[in-house]
Amino acid sequence: MTPELRDSAAFGAVFSDHMLVVDWNNGKWGEPSIVPYGPQPIPAAPSVAHYGQGIFEGFKAFPRPNGGAVLFRPDANHARMNNTCQRMAMPEVPASIFVDGSAALVALDRNWIPEKENSALYIRPVMFGIGEVLGVKPADTFRFIIETCPSAPYFSGSVDLIAEDVYVRAFPGGTGAAKCGGNYAGSMLAAIEAQKKGFHNVLWLDGIERRYVEEAGLMNVAFVISGTVVTPPLSGTILPGITRDSVLTLLRDLQLPIEERRITIDEVFDAHAKGTLQGAAGIGTAAVIAPLGRLRHKDREITIPKMGPESPLMKAGAELEGIRSGRIADRHNWLLSI
Ligand SMILES: Cc1ncc(COP(=O)(O)O)c(C=O)c1O
Repeated sequence: MTPELRDSAAFGAVFSDHMLVVDWNNGKWGEPSIVPYGPQPIPAAPSVAHYGQGIFEGFKAFPRPNGGAVLFRPDANHARMNNTCQRMAMPEVPASIFVDGSAALVALDRNWIPEKENSALYIRPVMFGIGEVLGVKPADTFRFIIETCPSAPYFSGSVDLIAEDVYVRAFPGGTGAAKCGGNYAGSMLAAIEAQKKGFHNVLWLDGIERRYVEEAGLMNVAFVISGTVVTPPLSGTILPGITRDSVLTLLRDLQLPIEERRITIDEVFDAHAKGTLQGAAGIGTAAVIAPLGRLRHKDREITIPKMGPESPLMKAGAELEGIRSGRIADRHNWLLSI
Protein backbone atom coordinates (compact mmCIF):
# COMPACT_ATOMS: atom_id res chain seq x y z
CA MET A 1 0.00 0.00 0.00
CA THR A 2 1.24 3.48 -0.81
CA PRO A 3 -0.16 6.56 0.95
CA GLU A 4 -1.14 7.90 -2.51
CA LEU A 5 -3.24 4.81 -3.29
CA ARG A 6 -4.79 4.83 0.17
CA ASP A 7 -5.66 8.55 0.08
CA SER A 8 -7.03 8.64 -3.45
CA ALA A 9 -8.84 5.29 -3.71
CA ALA A 10 -12.52 5.43 -4.59
CA PHE A 11 -14.75 3.99 -1.87
CA GLY A 12 -14.38 0.20 -1.78
CA ALA A 13 -11.75 0.11 -4.54
CA VAL A 14 -9.02 -1.20 -2.24
CA PHE A 15 -9.25 -3.16 0.99
CA SER A 16 -6.88 -2.97 3.94
CA ASP A 17 -4.33 -5.71 4.58
CA HIS A 18 -6.31 -7.84 7.03
CA MET A 19 -9.75 -9.28 7.64
CA LEU A 20 -11.45 -11.10 10.48
CA VAL A 21 -13.08 -14.45 9.74
CA VAL A 22 -15.12 -16.76 11.94
CA ASP A 23 -17.71 -19.44 11.26
CA TRP A 24 -20.81 -20.46 13.20
CA ASN A 25 -21.70 -24.13 13.10
CA ASN A 26 -23.02 -26.84 15.37
CA GLY A 27 -24.89 -24.08 17.18
CA LYS A 28 -21.89 -22.03 18.22
CA TRP A 29 -19.28 -19.53 17.08
CA GLY A 30 -15.71 -20.63 16.52
CA GLU A 31 -12.57 -18.68 17.42
CA PRO A 32 -12.22 -15.57 15.21
CA SER A 33 -8.97 -15.21 13.34
CA ILE A 34 -7.44 -12.17 11.72
CA VAL A 35 -5.83 -13.16 8.43
CA PRO A 36 -4.39 -11.41 5.37
CA TYR A 37 -7.16 -10.02 3.15
CA GLY A 38 -7.91 -12.55 0.42
CA PRO A 39 -10.21 -15.30 -0.86
CA GLN A 40 -11.84 -17.60 1.67
CA PRO A 41 -13.12 -20.89 0.21
CA ILE A 42 -16.80 -21.70 0.73
CA PRO A 43 -18.89 -24.77 -0.23
CA ALA A 44 -20.07 -25.00 -3.84
CA ALA A 45 -23.75 -24.53 -2.94
CA PRO A 46 -23.74 -21.92 -0.15
CA SER A 47 -27.25 -21.26 1.08
CA VAL A 48 -26.82 -17.49 0.70
CA ALA A 49 -26.68 -17.97 -3.07
CA HIS A 50 -30.03 -19.77 -3.05
CA TYR A 51 -32.11 -18.21 -0.33
CA GLY A 52 -30.36 -14.95 0.44
CA GLN A 53 -29.43 -15.15 4.10
CA GLY A 54 -26.83 -12.41 3.75
CA ILE A 55 -26.61 -9.30 5.92
CA PHE A 56 -24.11 -6.55 6.62
CA GLU A 57 -23.23 -3.44 8.59
CA GLY A 58 -21.19 -0.31 7.93
CA PHE A 59 -19.48 2.18 10.21
CA LYS A 60 -16.25 4.12 10.47
CA ALA A 61 -13.02 4.56 12.40
CA PHE A 62 -11.40 7.99 12.53
CA PRO A 63 -7.73 8.81 13.10
CA ARG A 64 -6.32 10.37 16.22
CA PRO A 65 -2.84 11.88 16.53
CA ASN A 66 0.11 9.63 17.43
CA GLY A 67 -1.25 6.54 15.72
CA GLY A 68 -4.50 6.28 17.65
CA ALA A 69 -8.00 5.86 16.25
CA VAL A 70 -11.61 5.83 17.40
CA LEU A 71 -14.57 3.73 16.28
CA PHE A 72 -17.87 5.63 16.01
CA ARG A 73 -20.73 3.87 17.85
CA PRO A 74 -19.68 0.25 17.13
CA ASP A 75 -22.10 -0.90 19.82
CA ALA A 76 -25.03 0.66 17.94
CA ASN A 77 -24.05 -1.11 14.72
CA HIS A 78 -23.61 -4.32 16.67
CA ALA A 79 -27.12 -4.01 18.11
CA ARG A 80 -28.55 -3.28 14.65
CA MET A 81 -26.77 -6.29 13.17
CA ASN A 82 -28.26 -8.54 15.83
CA ASN A 83 -31.73 -7.14 15.08
CA THR A 84 -31.12 -7.99 11.44
CA CYS A 85 -29.95 -11.49 12.49
CA GLN A 86 -33.23 -12.03 14.33
CA ARG A 87 -35.32 -10.90 11.38
CA MET A 88 -33.38 -13.10 8.95
CA ALA A 89 -33.35 -16.19 11.19
CA MET A 90 -29.57 -16.05 11.62
CA PRO A 91 -27.51 -16.51 14.79
CA GLU A 92 -26.62 -13.33 16.69
CA VAL A 93 -23.01 -12.21 16.80
CA PRO A 94 -21.45 -11.62 20.23
CA ALA A 95 -19.84 -8.23 21.03
CA SER A 96 -16.55 -10.03 21.61
CA ILE A 97 -16.49 -10.83 17.89
CA PHE A 98 -18.21 -7.76 16.38
CA VAL A 99 -16.93 -4.90 18.54
CA ASP A 100 -13.64 -6.30 19.85
CA GLY A 101 -12.88 -7.81 16.43
CA SER A 102 -13.46 -4.45 14.68
CA ALA A 103 -11.22 -2.70 17.20
CA ALA A 104 -8.44 -5.29 16.79
CA LEU A 105 -8.62 -5.05 13.01
CA VAL A 106 -8.50 -1.23 13.00
CA ALA A 107 -5.58 -1.27 15.43
CA LEU A 108 -3.69 -3.64 13.13
CA ASP A 109 -4.44 -1.72 9.93
CA ARG A 110 -4.34 1.77 11.48
CA ASN A 111 -1.99 2.98 8.74
CA TRP A 112 -4.78 2.39 6.21
CA ILE A 113 -6.75 5.36 7.56
CA PRO A 114 -6.26 8.16 5.03
CA GLU A 115 -4.44 11.22 6.34
CA LYS A 116 -6.79 13.81 4.85
CA GLU A 117 -9.23 15.77 7.03
CA ASN A 118 -12.54 13.92 7.46
CA SER A 119 -11.15 10.70 6.04
CA ALA A 120 -11.95 7.44 7.73
CA LEU A 121 -11.52 3.72 7.63
CA TYR A 122 -14.83 2.15 6.64
CA ILE A 123 -15.60 -1.04 8.54
CA ARG A 124 -17.80 -3.61 6.80
CA PRO A 125 -18.99 -6.62 8.83
CA VAL A 126 -20.85 -9.12 6.68
CA MET A 127 -22.46 -12.48 7.45
CA PHE A 128 -23.94 -15.10 5.17
CA GLY A 129 -25.13 -18.69 5.13
CA ILE A 130 -22.53 -21.06 3.71
CA GLY A 131 -24.11 -24.40 4.65
CA GLU A 132 -25.13 -26.58 1.69
CA VAL A 133 -28.86 -26.94 2.24
CA LEU A 134 -31.28 -26.94 -0.66
CA GLY A 135 -34.35 -27.24 1.52
CA VAL A 136 -35.77 -23.80 2.27
CA LYS A 137 -34.70 -23.30 5.87
CA PRO A 138 -32.01 -21.38 7.72
CA ALA A 139 -28.43 -22.38 6.89
CA ASP A 140 -26.68 -24.68 9.34
CA THR A 141 -23.35 -22.88 8.89
CA PHE A 142 -22.68 -19.14 8.67
CA ARG A 143 -19.54 -17.13 7.99
CA PHE A 144 -18.94 -13.73 9.59
CA ILE A 145 -16.24 -11.52 8.11
CA ILE A 146 -15.06 -8.00 8.89
CA GLU A 147 -13.27 -6.13 6.14
CA THR A 148 -12.08 -2.52 6.13
CA CYS A 149 -11.29 -0.03 3.40
CA PRO A 150 -10.09 3.56 3.24
CA SER A 151 -12.88 6.06 2.79
CA ALA A 152 -12.01 9.47 1.41
CA PRO A 153 -13.93 12.59 2.50
CA TYR A 154 -17.37 12.75 0.92
CA PHE A 155 -17.38 15.66 -1.52
CA SER A 156 -20.64 16.22 -3.23
CA GLY A 157 -22.95 18.83 -4.48
CA SER A 158 -26.57 18.29 -3.69
CA VAL A 159 -28.35 14.98 -4.19
CA ASP A 160 -31.11 15.00 -6.82
CA LEU A 161 -33.95 12.53 -6.23
CA ILE A 162 -37.02 11.35 -8.04
CA ALA A 163 -39.87 10.11 -5.84
CA GLU A 164 -40.36 6.46 -6.78
CA ASP A 165 -43.89 5.57 -7.84
CA VAL A 166 -43.34 2.17 -9.51
CA TYR A 167 -41.06 0.16 -7.21
CA VAL A 168 -41.23 -0.09 -3.43
CA ARG A 169 -38.38 -0.72 -1.01
CA ALA A 170 -40.36 -1.88 1.99
CA PHE A 171 -43.81 -2.51 3.44
CA PRO A 172 -45.14 -3.30 6.92
CA GLY A 173 -44.00 -6.71 8.07
CA GLY A 174 -41.23 -6.85 5.45
CA THR A 175 -37.49 -6.46 5.90
CA GLY A 176 -37.15 -2.68 5.45
CA ALA A 177 -35.70 -2.18 8.93
CA ALA A 178 -33.11 -4.93 8.44
CA LYS A 179 -29.76 -4.47 6.76
CA CYS A 180 -30.05 -7.51 4.52
CA GLY A 181 -28.52 -7.73 1.07
CA GLY A 182 -31.90 -8.42 -0.55
CA ASN A 183 -33.13 -4.91 0.26
CA TYR A 184 -30.22 -3.52 -1.74
CA ALA A 185 -30.59 -5.97 -4.65
CA GLY A 186 -34.26 -5.02 -4.86
CA SER A 187 -33.50 -1.30 -5.01
CA MET A 188 -30.80 -1.25 -7.68
CA LEU A 189 -33.13 -1.17 -10.70
CA ALA A 190 -34.96 1.86 -9.32
CA ALA A 191 -31.64 3.69 -8.84
CA ILE A 192 -30.49 2.79 -12.38
CA GLU A 193 -33.76 4.07 -13.86
CA ALA A 194 -33.51 7.29 -11.80
CA GLN A 195 -29.95 7.80 -13.06
CA LYS A 196 -31.10 7.40 -16.67
CA LYS A 197 -33.52 10.28 -16.01
CA GLY A 198 -30.71 12.48 -14.67
CA PHE A 199 -31.17 11.95 -10.91
CA HIS A 200 -28.80 10.41 -8.40
CA ASN A 201 -31.29 8.06 -6.79
CA VAL A 202 -34.91 7.71 -5.73
CA LEU A 203 -36.85 9.07 -2.80
CA TRP A 204 -38.60 5.98 -1.49
CA LEU A 205 -42.30 6.29 -0.71
CA ASP A 206 -44.28 3.91 1.50
CA GLY A 207 -45.23 0.58 -0.05
CA ILE A 208 -48.99 0.84 0.46
CA GLU A 209 -50.24 4.32 -0.38
CA ARG A 210 -47.13 5.59 -2.17
CA ARG A 211 -47.61 8.90 -0.38
CA TYR A 212 -45.41 8.89 2.68
CA VAL A 213 -41.71 9.67 2.34
CA GLU A 214 -39.46 6.94 3.75
CA GLU A 215 -35.81 7.09 2.67
CA ALA A 216 -33.50 9.04 0.36
CA GLY A 217 -31.85 6.30 -1.72
CA LEU A 218 -29.47 4.61 0.71
CA MET A 219 -29.92 7.22 3.43
CA ASN A 220 -32.51 8.32 5.94
CA VAL A 221 -34.17 11.62 5.12
CA ALA A 222 -35.14 14.80 6.95
CA PHE A 223 -36.79 18.07 5.92
CA VAL A 224 -36.56 21.49 7.53
CA ILE A 225 -40.04 23.05 7.51
CA SER A 226 -40.59 26.38 9.25
CA GLY A 227 -37.49 25.79 11.37
CA THR A 228 -38.52 22.29 12.50
CA VAL A 229 -36.64 19.16 11.44
CA VAL A 230 -39.23 16.65 10.22
CA THR A 231 -38.16 13.04 9.69
CA PRO A 232 -40.13 9.83 9.15
CA PRO A 233 -40.53 7.69 12.29
CA LEU A 234 -38.91 4.26 12.77
CA SER A 235 -42.07 2.47 11.78
CA GLY A 236 -40.43 -0.81 10.74
CA THR A 237 -40.14 0.07 7.05
CA ILE A 238 -37.04 2.27 7.21
CA LEU A 239 -33.52 1.40 8.31
CA PRO A 240 -32.87 2.77 11.81
CA GLY A 241 -29.80 4.79 10.83
CA ILE A 242 -27.13 5.34 13.45
CA THR A 243 -26.43 8.76 11.92
CA ARG A 244 -30.15 9.62 12.05
CA ASP A 245 -30.19 8.72 15.74
CA SER A 246 -27.01 10.74 16.38
CA VAL A 247 -28.31 13.80 14.51
CA LEU A 248 -31.64 13.70 16.38
CA THR A 249 -29.78 13.39 19.70
CA LEU A 250 -27.62 16.42 18.86
CA LEU A 251 -30.66 18.44 17.71
CA ARG A 252 -32.24 17.71 21.11
CA ASP A 253 -29.01 18.78 22.83
CA LEU A 254 -29.14 22.03 20.85
CA GLN A 255 -32.82 22.42 21.85
CA LEU A 256 -33.84 22.62 18.21
CA PRO A 257 -37.35 21.45 17.28
CA ILE A 258 -37.79 17.95 15.83
CA GLU A 259 -40.83 16.04 14.66
CA GLU A 260 -40.54 12.30 14.04
CA ARG A 261 -43.73 11.78 12.09
CA ARG A 262 -45.05 10.62 8.77
CA ILE A 263 -44.72 13.18 6.02
CA THR A 264 -46.36 12.93 2.61
CA ILE A 265 -44.71 13.87 -0.64
CA ASP A 266 -47.58 16.37 -1.13
CA GLU A 267 -46.69 18.07 2.15
CA VAL A 268 -43.12 18.54 0.91
CA PHE A 269 -44.30 20.10 -2.37
CA ASP A 270 -46.91 22.24 -0.55
CA ALA A 271 -44.29 23.49 1.92
CA HIS A 272 -42.08 24.43 -1.02
CA ALA A 273 -44.97 26.30 -2.66
CA LYS A 274 -45.70 28.18 0.57
CA GLY A 275 -42.04 29.02 1.08
CA THR A 276 -41.80 27.10 4.38
CA LEU A 277 -39.51 24.32 3.08
CA GLN A 278 -36.07 25.50 4.15
CA GLY A 279 -34.00 22.48 3.21
CA ALA A 280 -33.78 18.71 3.16
CA ALA A 281 -31.04 16.13 3.41
CA GLY A 282 -30.15 12.49 3.24
CA ILE A 283 -28.59 11.31 6.51
CA GLY A 284 -26.12 8.43 6.75
CA THR A 285 -22.61 7.27 7.61
CA ALA A 286 -21.07 8.27 4.28
CA ALA A 287 -21.89 11.99 4.19
CA VAL A 288 -23.50 12.61 7.60
CA ILE A 289 -25.73 15.30 6.00
CA ALA A 290 -26.14 15.19 2.20
CA PRO A 291 -28.29 18.19 1.17
CA LEU A 292 -30.98 17.42 -1.39
CA GLY A 293 -31.23 19.46 -4.57
CA ARG A 294 -33.81 18.72 -7.24
CA LEU A 295 -36.85 16.68 -6.25
CA ARG A 296 -39.27 15.31 -8.85
CA HIS A 297 -42.57 13.56 -8.24
CA LYS A 298 -44.55 12.48 -11.32
CA ASP A 299 -44.71 15.61 -13.53
CA ARG A 300 -43.77 18.23 -10.94
CA GLU A 301 -40.29 19.25 -9.86
CA ILE A 302 -38.84 21.59 -7.26
CA THR A 303 -35.39 22.67 -6.25
CA ILE A 304 -35.02 22.40 -2.50
CA PRO A 305 -33.51 25.53 -0.92
CA LYS A 306 -29.83 25.31 0.02
CA MET A 307 -29.15 25.09 3.74
CA GLY A 308 -26.65 27.51 5.25
CA PRO A 309 -24.56 26.80 8.38
CA GLU A 310 -27.41 28.16 10.53
CA SER A 311 -29.83 25.47 9.36
CA PRO A 312 -30.58 23.03 12.20
CA LEU A 313 -29.53 20.04 10.09
CA MET A 314 -26.22 21.64 9.16
CA LYS A 315 -25.60 22.62 12.80
CA ALA A 316 -26.20 19.07 13.99
CA GLY A 317 -24.08 17.69 11.13
CA ALA A 318 -21.18 19.99 12.03
CA GLU A 319 -21.50 18.98 15.68
CA LEU A 320 -21.41 15.29 14.73
CA GLU A 321 -18.37 15.76 12.52
CA GLY A 322 -16.71 17.68 15.37
CA ILE A 323 -17.29 14.75 17.73
CA ARG A 324 -16.04 12.20 15.20
CA SER A 325 -12.87 14.19 14.55
CA GLY A 326 -12.19 14.95 18.22
CA ARG A 327 -12.69 18.73 18.02
CA ILE A 328 -15.84 18.53 20.17
CA ALA A 329 -16.12 16.56 23.44
CA ASP A 330 -17.66 13.11 23.12
CA ARG A 331 -20.43 13.84 25.64
CA HIS A 332 -22.55 10.84 24.63
CA ASN A 333 -19.73 8.29 24.84
CA TRP A 334 -20.04 7.44 21.18
CA LEU A 335 -16.34 6.86 20.54
CA LEU A 336 -14.43 3.68 21.30
CA SER A 337 -10.72 4.53 21.48
CA ILE A 338 -8.12 2.05 20.40
C1 LIG B 1 -31.19 1.99 3.34
C2 LIG B 1 -30.35 2.79 4.27
N1 LIG B 1 -30.95 3.73 5.03
C3 LIG B 1 -30.25 4.48 5.90
C4 LIG B 1 -28.88 4.33 6.05
C5 LIG B 1 -28.14 5.17 7.05
O1 LIG B 1 -27.73 4.39 8.14
P1 LIG B 1 -26.44 4.79 8.98
O2 LIG B 1 -26.65 6.16 9.49
O3 LIG B 1 -26.38 3.79 10.08
O4 LIG B 1 -25.28 4.74 8.05
C6 LIG B 1 -28.22 3.36 5.28
C7 LIG B 1 -26.76 3.19 5.40
O5 LIG B 1 -26.33 2.33 6.12
C8 LIG B 1 -28.97 2.57 4.38
O6 LIG B 1 -28.37 1.62 3.64
